Amino acid sequence: MLAARRELREQLRFAATLALVAAVALAVVIWAAARSPIALRSISIAAGICVVVLAWRSRPDSGRSRSRPPGSLGLKNSLDAIVDRSFYMGQLQRHGRVFKMAQFHQPVVCIVDIGKGRELLKRETENLVLAPLPISAEIPRGFIRYMKPDDYAVYSQLFRSAFSEALLEANRELMRDAARRELVELAAASDAASHAGVDPRRSIERLMFTVLLRIYFGDLIEPSDRGVIEGCCRGIGSGNTIGRASPRARRALQTFDKLIRERSNDGLAAHGDHSSVLGGILRLKPEAGADSTAIGNLLLLLEASRDSIGGLLMWILKNVADSPESIEMIRGARDGDARAGELIECIVFETLRLAQSEYVYRIVTRPIEVDGFEIPKGWLTRICVAEAHRQDPPFDRPEVFDPARFVNRRFSSNEFSPFGLDQHACLGAQLTTSVSGAFVDVLARNFDVRVVADGAPERGNRHWNHWRPSSELRIALSRRGTE
Ligand code: HEM
Repeated sequence: MLAARRELREQLRFAATLALVAAVALAVVIWAAARSPIALRSISIAAGICVVVLAWRSRPDSGRSRSRPPGSLGLKNSLDAIVDRSFYMGQLQRHGRVFKMAQFHQPVVCIVDIGKGRELLKRETENLVLAPLPISAEIPRGFIRYMKPDDYAVYSQLFRSAFSEALLEANRELMRDAARRELVELAAASDAASHAGVDPRRSIERLMFTVLLRIYFGDLIEPSDRGVIEGCCRGIGSGNTIGRASPRARRALQTFDKLIRERSNDGLAAHGDHSSVLGGILRLKPEAGADSTAIGNLLLLLEASRDSIGGLLMWILKNVADSPESIEMIRGARDGDARAGELIECIVFETLRLAQSEYVYRIVTRPIEVDGFEIPKGWLTRICVAEAHRQDPPFDRPEVFDPARFVNRRFSSNEFSPFGLDQHACLGAQLTTSVSGAFVDVLARNFDVRVVADGAPERGNRHWNHWRPSSELRIALSRRGTE
């Protein structure tokens, strides 16, 4: 709900900026028309030249003589890519697996082939870099993803060790209990709402905080800290916009820094429950409790977890509600059976394949070659993972939600790679599959769910925003009485 409100605010800000630019341009034209025929003529000529240049640049075969890939760099493509979920598939069908487009002024080479993408990242490691989010600059040594190699070696190792298999195992029951509690409440609300169904977003948001605060902090924080930390997450979530980090995001980092320093300091860290990410970090590096880089990263990871796993749970709920037969196979398997675990994983993988694996971006820092095309410095590369996950072969009837495709079949990493392609692969992959697996297990065994109302998937107005189920999604959820 809050994320939706933030999204709405961003959309309004974007629309307001466009309106302002249009209003200023109109005012200049009106002024020139009234006061200066020479200025008006100059503006008309400049506008005419702009139109011709933009039209020339928009041709799908522009740059062919310089070995650029096919595809239009026009503004229309840029806007279509934001609003049309099938945009990249359409370009693939038109131009092949390597094509170009633009994200506003920024040219992008798109590669719809995980194997080619992986090979490119390996071959051109030096010439392809990550584009940092502004919030990273507010953390002394930056966010892990964008750190310099020496810092990356230290902090990546620290956090990867803290998100251990043992930690996830220790919290497995908690994940299931929290999912059960939240779904029982949602089922009661659904019962009361009768035919109208319920909006599951607030329940998923609450579930995420309950589970993640436990996994991240265990007993190292006080119950009253929950509201403060939730506020910090919302603040930091508002900072991932273009340009500078927002003042609200900066304040969130400061508040969180102060809180974690206090909690690490006040003795709880020494005697408390160490089955948490923060506990693991303090055990490995006791001075991390006073290290703003470790603390800032902890907050960014927490917010990334809330956003990405929460989004995945929403897609799981929608996909399962759309095809209730998909969870029948789990109901047939005995609780705790290894087979049940595999079937749960199939639902998670199929949801990742269809709904929440999207892309890998890099900036080109020196000219590179992609499939015989020459890509200049300054372009972006976009490895289109989501579109590669919709190819037949290897995925038969790729648009159909069919978890059974993963039963008894392991796709190679060049066919299915939702969590990244190189050394920057996802740090939260196991956390994601553990939390979402517990959710699927509880949902499948104890509840029936179906869609009552729905709309088209939605996203923010940035090319890197993730698609989410419609805010109009309403579900009917009922208990199966087998708990
Ligand atoms: C639906 C769940 C998720 C998906 C599909 C996902 C996907 C990805 C992908 C594709 C990458 C590679 C990006 C690149 O190479 O540019 C990545 C990296 C990363 N992810 Fe995730 N992610 C998910 C959840 C999470 C969670 C829960 C966390 C927090 C613990 C997280 C933290 C990170 C970090 C820190 C990196 C960069 C790692 C590095 O640079 O070494 N992700 N993720």
